[in-house]
Amino acid sequence: MRILSVSSECEPFSKTGGLAEVCRDLPLALARRGHDVRVLTPWYPQVPSSLGAREVSRHRCDFGGPKPFALGEAPFGAVRAFFIRSPLIPGLSEDERTASTDRYGKTREHERFWFFCSAAAALLDDWDWSPQVVLCHDYWSALLLPMLAPRPRRSRLVLVVHNAHLQGSFDSSKLPARLRDTGEGALPRVGSRRGRLLNFLRRGAMAADLLVAVSPTYAKELLTEERGEGLQDVFRARRRRLFGVLNGIDTERFDPATDPLIAARFDSRALPARASNKRALQRLAGLPEADVPLLAMVSRLDPQKGFLLLFRTLAPLLSQGVQLAICGDGYPWVRKLLEQLARQSSRQLSYLPFAKERETLYYAGADIFLMPSWWEPCGLGQMKAMRYGAVPLVRETGGLADTVEDYRPRTGTGFIFGELDPWALYTAVLRALATYQRPSEWRRLQRAAMRRDFSWRRAAQRYEELLMPLVRPPSGRGSRLDR
Ligand code: GLC
Repeated sequence: MRILSVSSECEPFSKTGGLAEVCRDLPLALARRGHDVRVLTPWYPQVPSSLGAREVSRHRCDFGGPKPFALGEAPFGAVRAFFIRSPLIPGLSEDERTASTDRYGKTREHERFWFFCSAAAALLDDWDWSPQVVLCHDYWSALLLPMLAPRPRRSRLVLVVHNAHLQGSFDSSKLPARLRDTGEGALPRVGSRRGRLLNFLRRGAMAADLLVAVSPTYAKELLTEERGEGLQDVFRARRRRLFGVLNGIDTERFDPATDPLIAARFDSRALPARASNKRALQRLAGLPEADVPLLAMVSRLDPQKGFLLLFRTLAPLLSQGVQLAICGDGYPWVRKLLEQLARQSSRQLSYLPFAKERETLYYAGADIFLMPSWWEPCGLGQMKAMRYGAVPLVRETGGLADTVEDYRPRTGTGFIFGELDPWALYTAVLRALATYQRPSEWRRLQRAAMRRDFSWRRAAQRYEELLMPLVRPPSGRGSRLDR
């Protein structure tokens, strides 16, 4: 299959969160299965020049008049990576991104990704390569789907939903009903009032031939009032085309047996080696090297990730004598609060900003990995933590519910709580701490967690099963594309 994956970020070229990891790993995994895969993302000024992106051609698109843009390409393993460069897509600003719900800068995010989608559509006209399947990831690239839908001999259109909460530079759920985009009718003019309130994700979902949520539970949640984010009508109307495929993780990079970034390498047969990693993490985090349970979080600092719950549970939690090490970037108010709390309880609580070089030491050194998310479409942290033998403690939502099995004596891979309530989180911690006191049971839990298969091989195979019939219907008559 010829597959084009279009996204707002793709590691190693750009990254603000898990989206970038999936937009790297999924295309690579599909290419490994023999498909002809290309990725297309913005060429932010922050794309490191060491990655070798160079301009390959120039084009124009219609965006309230003709607008030029450049196409870049960089080496990217078996996948071809392309970039769209234009002054209309300014940088990925750290400060801006953390200051608002717009991941790529507060100002005019809507407009820049509308432009990005227009440029992608124009590129598909100019290219001598035509994808059989176009995968768009989340709202930022979703508008490409309605742009492609009316075309003759068009590609099959797929929307991958990583987080339906983000739908544009406005909170759609807070708009009065009369201002909300119904998704019906032609796209409004760029810069018009209706244009500013255009709901990319709704339009993308309506135009898609297939919808993929990043976990089976999230696919079900999208149909509900609570988690459908105001789009549940669209998801319900298309429920027969909506599937959930659990993301994978890069099991080669995240491998405790070979990871050069941790203090001591280990596997499930040599768990005592984790003790050196625990001490190294305590040192890194500035915590005393004490023999107490060490809890960790590696997370975007976002209310989505359960920080409100954590803040309300913190005092009783710390009174249990545990240590908690947190690492991540995100909303400045969450960071400031964490810094302040860490100063107050410096022997038990630590906060450090995210850095790739230290990420895996948190998984390798922690006893318990905390992810009390409010909602979590998939979540990658719990899978990585499990691979390194940190026992996950998660809320029962989205991909967390699909990846962690609650502890029952002799079965399970972690600890789960259901209610969005500080007491529910706290009692789950107590259960985990009680189990931690029983070393043989704890080791069994760690091994069970480490044995779970979170490889992309499994996930890519599932994508393939869903995409193949779109391109070649089982009737054998061939798809519209082949004619
Ligand atoms: C979004 C979701 C997260 C998911 C990631 C990759 O960031 O919030 O749950 O793991 O996308 O799909």
